[in-house]
Amino acid sequence: MDIDSIPILKSLIEYRDEGTVPFHMPGHKRGSIYKKAGIDLLSGNLLAMDTTEVTGIDNLHCPESAVFKAQNLAAEAFGADYTFFLVNGTTSGIYSMIMAATNPGDKIIIPRNCHRSVYGAVILGRLVPVYVNPEIDEELGIAVGIKPEVLEYLLEKHRDAKIVIITYPTYYGTCSDLKKIAEIVHRRGMLLLVDEAHGSHFSFNERLPISALEAGADMTAQSIHKTLPAMTQSSMLHVKSNRVDIEKLKFFLQLTQTTSPSHILLASLDTARFIMQQYGREFLDDTIDWSNWARNEIKSITGLYCLGYDRIGRYGVSDLDATRITVNFRAAGISGVKAEMLLRKDFKIQVEMSDLYNIVAITTIGDCQADYERLVNALKGIALTAGSRKTVIEGSSVFPKLPELSIMPWEAAYCEREQVAASSGIGRTCAEMIIPYPPGIPVLMPGEVISKDAYEYLKLCLKQGIKINGASDIRLEKIWVIKNKKEV
Ligand SMILES: Cc1ncc(COP(=O)(O)O)c(C=O)c1O
Repeated sequence: MDIDSIPILKSLIEYRDEGTVPFHMPGHKRGSIYKKAGIDLLSGNLLAMDTTEVTGIDNLHCPESAVFKAQNLAAEAFGADYTFFLVNGTTSGIYSMIMAATNPGDKIIIPRNCHRSVYGAVILGRLVPVYVNPEIDEELGIAVGIKPEVLEYLLEKHRDAKIVIITYPTYYGTCSDLKKIAEIVHRRGMLLLVDEAHGSHFSFNERLPISALEAGADMTAQSIHKTLPAMTQSSMLHVKSNRVDIEKLKFFLQLTQTTSPSHILLASLDTARFIMQQYGREFLDDTIDWSNWARNEIKSITGLYCLGYDRIGRYGVSDLDATRITVNFRAAGISGVKAEMLLRKDFKIQVEMSDLYNIVAITTIGDCQADYERLVNALKGIALTAGSRKTVIEGSSVFPKLPELSIMPWEAAYCEREQVAASSGIGRTCAEMIIPYPPGIPVLMPGEVISKDAYEYLKLCLKQGIKINGASDIRLEKIWVIKNKKEV
């Protein structure tokens, strides 16, 4: 067999055989957790179980037997009134919950650093976005929390808003004061929706931040595949509220999910729930202890810093996910992007992501002591030689003002577009998302006017080696703008 003729399969086999330690999603960490929990059913011949909805196999879109039972068991485990299994990731949960809670033309309050799926829902649901700026930890160069008082001030100005969505926790593991935010939102009769993509494990150990449902969220979408032992794409949407129209929610779930869901993915959600109910507290105790051990070791390495509990009480951060290892290389003078590359090349360790100053490693119940030790030793090695590889250029902290919205994001999606030289885009309406990392806050979104400030800030970002996400021309020499506004 010529494996070169099957390129995707080849890439998976090569990565599997490389023996790299995975500090990234999915949370089952190459299936190792299933062996530890004594459930080998999901690591055997999965193809023999891959099936459509024949007799005896339930239907995700109108569940009556196995899926119905499994969703109820999950609702109980996660403390929800209703739980819906998702095979199109948290993205489909975010689309569905936002559209179920709004009508076209409604206002939605959004943190400016939210995931692109929230912007997707704004376009699909034809909503009016109102942004709340997250607090930026200047030292680490990342957006970390939303201050309740900042949100409250904004809600006073937008009393007609229908919903507020909050990212909890952030990719970096920081948590805003969600309980206080829930009180502020509910006092005004609005609904609180949470993007809890990175926080599905919170329900299973009291040493972790409280879950979004415990804090008072009406709905929350969780990527079970990121931090719990489920397969990629497998997520859940939980509801705990008597103000959510469940039938409308089911309608949008049918719209945003495939009619051919993989029952293997559904089974992996069911299995993840079972493992967490049986062993979650005990396994997570280990994960938290080892992550805290690694955090302290990393902090003692000259030039490195690991985001820790010392951040609580600053920049809107009220709690921290102990299992998230965010390492800052700014004082060592090398970029997070370079550190990620060195970890993979020289130490066979792959982290989840990197930005200008930081790397982010995801630890889950699937990691073992040797993995943490290997990470710490590799970081010691990188720090030792950092002096000879200095790559970080100091960034600007002056973020441009929120741009003017000239047409709604959904209108921008239907307009004719043209690509122009970025400098001549100033004053025109942007047709793409332009998001520098760090700090991961969009400078421009479709429908927004490109200001001179925004243009100059982006040029500076590029000079500093900051990655620009979303833009079709990553060097930003050209930019897509709206050509003609079309009547839709
Ligand atoms: C904060 C956040 N929200 C939502 C998502 C979307 O989740 P999924 O990949 O499960 O669709 C992601 C994915 O990385 C994310 O980081």
